[in-house]
Amino acid sequence: MKLSLVTVPTLLLFAGLGSALNHRRGTVKPRRTSSLLINPDAQPDLPTVQAATAAASSAGLNLDDIQGDVLIGMKKNQELFYFFSIGDVADFKSKLASDILPLITTTTQLLSVSTQPITALNIAFSSSGLNALNVTDSLGDSAFAGGQFADLKNLGDPGSTNWVPEFAGTGIHGVLLFASDTVDNIDAAVSSLESDLGDSITKVYSLQAAARPGSEAGHEHFGFLDGISNPAVDGFTASPMPGQFVADAGSILLNETGDAVTRPVWAKDGSFLVFRQLQQLVPEFNKFLTDNPIVEDGLTTQQGSDLLGARMVGRWKSGAPVDLAPLFDDPELGADPTRNNNFTFEHPDATLATNQTRCPFSAHIRKTRPRADLGTPEETVHHIMRAGIPYGPEVSDDEAASNTTTTERGLAFVAYQSNIGNGFRFLQQTWANNAGFVHSGVGVDPVIGALAGAQRVVNGLDPTNSTKSITLTTGELCCFAWWRVLLLAFVVCDRQQALSLIQFLPATLVHTVTLFLQDIFVVIILLGHCRCWVDRI
Ligand code: HEM
Ligand SMILES: *[C@@H]1O[C@H](CO)[C@@H](O)[C@H](O)[C@H]1NC(C)=O
Ligand SMILES: *[C@@H]1O[C@H](CO)[C@@H](O)[C@H](O)[C@H]1NC(C)=O
Ligand SMILES: *[C@@H]1O[C@H](CO)[C@@H](O)[C@H](O)[C@H]1NC(C)=O
Ligand SMILES: *[C@@H]1O[C@H](CO)[C@@H](O)[C@H](O)[C@H]1NC(C)=O
Ligand SMILES: *[C@@H]1O[C@H](CO)[C@@H](O)[C@H](O)[C@H]1NC(C)=O
Ligand SMILES: *[C@@H]1O[C@H](CO)[C@@H](O)[C@H](O)[C@H]1NC(C)=O
Repeated sequence: MKLSLVTVPTLLLFAGLGSALNHRRGTVKPRRTSSLLINPDAQPDLPTVQAATAAASSAGLNLDDIQGDVLIGMKKNQELFYFFSIGDVADFKSKLASDILPLITTTTQLLSVSTQPITALNIAFSSSGLNALNVTDSLGDSAFAGGQFADLKNLGDPGSTNWVPEFAGTGIHGVLLFASDTVDNIDAAVSSLESDLGDSITKVYSLQAAARPGSEAGHEHFGFLDGISNPAVDGFTASPMPGQFVADAGSILLNETGDAVTRPVWAKDGSFLVFRQLQQLVPEFNKFLTDNPIVEDGLTTQQGSDLLGARMVGRWKSGAPVDLAPLFDDPELGADPTRNNNFTFEHPDATLATNQTRCPFSAHIRKTRPRADLGTPEETVHHIMRAGIPYGPEVSDDEAASNTTTTERGLAFVAYQSNIGNGFRFLQQTWANNAGFVHSGVGVDPVIGALAGAQRVVNGLDPTNSTKSITLTTGELCCFAWWRVLLLAFVVCDRQQALSLIQFLPATLVHTVTLFLQDIFVVIILLGHCRCWVDRI
């Protein structure tokens, strides 16, 4: 067991925020004694509060203004995605300021057990949600403004027939993300907030997701450890792991270093959230592996099946990369974050552009992060922060025996980025779905590649025969990832500035400012620039 990521809280740092919260709510909230996050050995630890604060201050980042989910990655224990539409706009705006804002969990708060709330809450708005709130400023992202339907073709979805019906249309105005260690805690937080919010919002759809049980925690439903290779973020990650990509804060957060797009002033430190509910046909996947073992000297049939799965992903179930462990899983390597991401696909004994003995060009992790395939140093534009979590039950005995899914399960995929066209959409459209990427003829990504329902040819999976291809169809036996929904949502931030304003303004101004907050939620962020709100008042 490595040390918990949350052992050494710096209480001093939290005094300001904590007292602001308590002052505002008038009560001292119960605090946790154990983390609401998971912490598998193989995933890089989150920074300590001290380390993150030091990194943030030298990079000029304010972690108290950034919603907690954005930089934390795939570490939630239980999470509820609560999609809502806004009813009475004025009522909602007022309650956003009075009831939601004080509960929004920041990055700093999540880093220490002692400052984590019982249930963390974050919020994001869709483009139609912002419009409903009369916020029509351009955020500078056409994929966000266009919404999910406009992107259907770009993403290779075979129409929207497979979409969760509630996502067809523009009725989803936003999503509340609840995270905790138990479903009971989440349910309690939901009921409490629902009763506060009354008719100001209506639940349109929700999805309860959870880390898988026991030693499978952190593994997605096919069995592979996830959340290993998220970018380190300048100004947050104290010590990047070997091989971890180090991203400018601005590639995830708006209006930070590296974000070249002009944004409205109030958008600073927000991020675009892409959500997809991706169904995974796990017994079918397992049957496919059983039926198509790689035949190689020294491998049993079972090992040949395991190798096929590992080469589809680019990692073994333990997390060990096939680039470093080409024939057999190496759980010790998988569990070691100082080694499990330390590779570039380049080797002295192999020609980078043609040799896929170790890792196929089509492997999921090579498609979505080609590392040295695109040159050294690595390209810097196409990186996302993944914060998804599995949903649905474990495979039942009946499903396993019949090789057939009867209860839906999959990945509640979440990606944060400052530019959807460079981030999620690029990875999906230009890399994963492109049979000619990274070299002509390598085929599509066998895990997520999608060609509008057409057959998908994948090459390079058999290390003994580079001309052998497999063909996967969509929506049938070999459809391992079924596109369900896409929500392009904007994460609102700068809660701290709003709180401090409310707290530190002379009493006579508080009422005015509260009204101002009620007027439109966007001012929460305008508060960062005092002149704006002073002018307005
Ligand atoms: C059900 C669908 C999916 C499954 C089962 C899946 C599974 C995995 C697994 C097991 C890993 C390796 C763990 C790691 O390196 O952190 C991984 C990495 C990754 N996945 Fe996925 N994934 C899915 C969907 C997606 C989608 C839709 C995208 C983006 C379009 C995506 C982008 C990535 C990226 C960028 C990495 C890290 C690559 C690296 O840095 O080396 N994944 N995924
Ligand atoms: C919407 O915003 C515009 C510009 O900020 C303002 O002129 C207009 O009155 C607002 N409409 C409503 C219904 O609040
Ligand atoms: C942030 O926005 C301000 C105001 O638009 C702009 O002057 C500044 O250059 C932006 N900073 C970054 C890093 O994008
Ligand atoms: C990372 O890989 C490089 C190059 O292969 C190697 O020199 C270095 O020792 C590795 N680092 C760790 C921590 O294993
Ligand atoms: C391809 O790479 C493997 C391992 O990296 C190496 O053993 C093999 O000789 C290479 N094949 C060719 C044709 O260079
Ligand atoms: C499930 O798939 C395996 C592997 O192909 C096969 O041996 C078995 O007979 C299948 N079971 C059923 C009930 O079809
Ligand atoms: C390699 O695979 C191709 C296509 O499946 C096949 O035609 C060829 O005979 C295989 N080569 C060897 C040496 O097995």
